[in-house]
Amino acid sequence: MPKKIIFAQLGGPEVLEYVDYELPKTVPDKNVRIKQTSIGLNYIDTYFRRGIYPAPTPLPICPGLEAAGEVISLGSGVNNINVGDRVCYAAPPLGAYCEIRDFPVDKIVKIPKGLSNDEAASIFLQGMTVEYLFTRLHKIKKDQYVLFHAAAGGVGLIACQWAKHIGCNLIGTVGSNKKVELAKKNGCTHAINYNTENVVERVNKITDGEGVPVVYDGVGKNTFQISLDCLSLRGLFVSFGQSSGMVPDVNLHKTFNPKSLYYTRPTLMHYNATREELNNSAGALFDLVKKGAITPNLSKTYSLEESSSAHSDLELRKTVGSIVLNP
Ligand SMILES: NC(=O)c1ccc[n+]([C@@H]2O[C@H](COP(=O)([O-])OP(=O)(O)OC[C@H]3O[C@@H](n4cnc5c(N)ncnc54)[C@H](OP(=O)(O)O)[C@@H]3O)[C@@H](O)[C@H]2O)c1
Repeated sequence: MPKKIIFAQLGGPEVLEYVDYELPKTVPDKNVRIKQTSIGLNYIDTYFRRGIYPAPTPLPICPGLEAAGEVISLGSGVNNINVGDRVCYAAPPLGAYCEIRDFPVDKIVKIPKGLSNDEAASIFLQGMTVEYLFTRLHKIKKDQYVLFHAAAGGVGLIACQWAKHIGCNLIGTVGSNKKVELAKKNGCTHAINYNTENVVERVNKITDGEGVPVVYDGVGKNTFQISLDCLSLRGLFVSFGQSSGMVPDVNLHKTFNPKSLYYTRPTLMHYNATREELNNSAGALFDLVKKGAITPNLSKTYSLEESSSAHSDLELRKTVGSIVLNP
């Protein structure tokens, strides 16, 4: 019998259970059945597990939004994918933490030659996130400064590489000196340890007191005020996650009026809402991987059974780069 991870109650990493399950006899229409070899671990998986984002009800559910593997059978109405194709996805419905899965073909992308399944699962969701953050939500420019929090994480290291490719000066914040070095190695122009340094002072010094025109903040609660203080007049606050906790309610006038700031709270699924957007986003990412501008930073793999340890390490800030679970 195949195995999957479920959670039957919300809570810490310990609520994840490794269980047997049965597959439906037939693959649903316009779905493909994938034998998954590599499952991408993303911070969002912990938000669903804790109930920070509402998980689909009723529980138990199988978590996960990203995986790569081989197509082993097709539902009716599938024309452009064949048995044996290597494919990946980064989209709902939840349920990626399993060995074999049926998934809608319209959200599946073929993995290019030269990229392993593990590498694809490590980079697909996080890389397309950087694609929309840097090229569509706001176009970062050569010689411009941008501030990016948690620059040595999964999304963060890809952001460092992407910014370097464009020639943009990414100022990255990180939680340790080891992460400072790693961010720099990946193209971060100035890496600041926010546990030991004053980020606002450093950013002011780097930008001659002007501040940055855009902040990408995936840390949330602990960096919210720092982000506001680092923005220039008419700057853009991109709040794309909250690894340290939800940003508390704010007074709109007091928060954004003093510098006429813009604020947005985007999500990948809304930027890759159409098949065309998904194709373009995946294409742009894979193109940079092929050119060598972006290299997957798969720092550790865990077995699927070890999902609870993987979640724990991610939430305790022990990880760098991207993490993959192997069924
Ligand atoms: N909106 C979107 O479309 C979208 C898509 C993908 C990801 N995201 C968001 O992007 C962010 C990064 O995701 P990721 O999967 O690449 O995770 P990650 O950056 O690999 O891990 C989270 C990092 O946040 C930092 N952090 C700071 N304070 C923390 C705290 N109190 N607890 C835990 N971590 C803390 C840690 O780095 P340091 O030790 O260096 O501080 C940690 O390594 C997350 O907020 C995620 O939800 C958003």
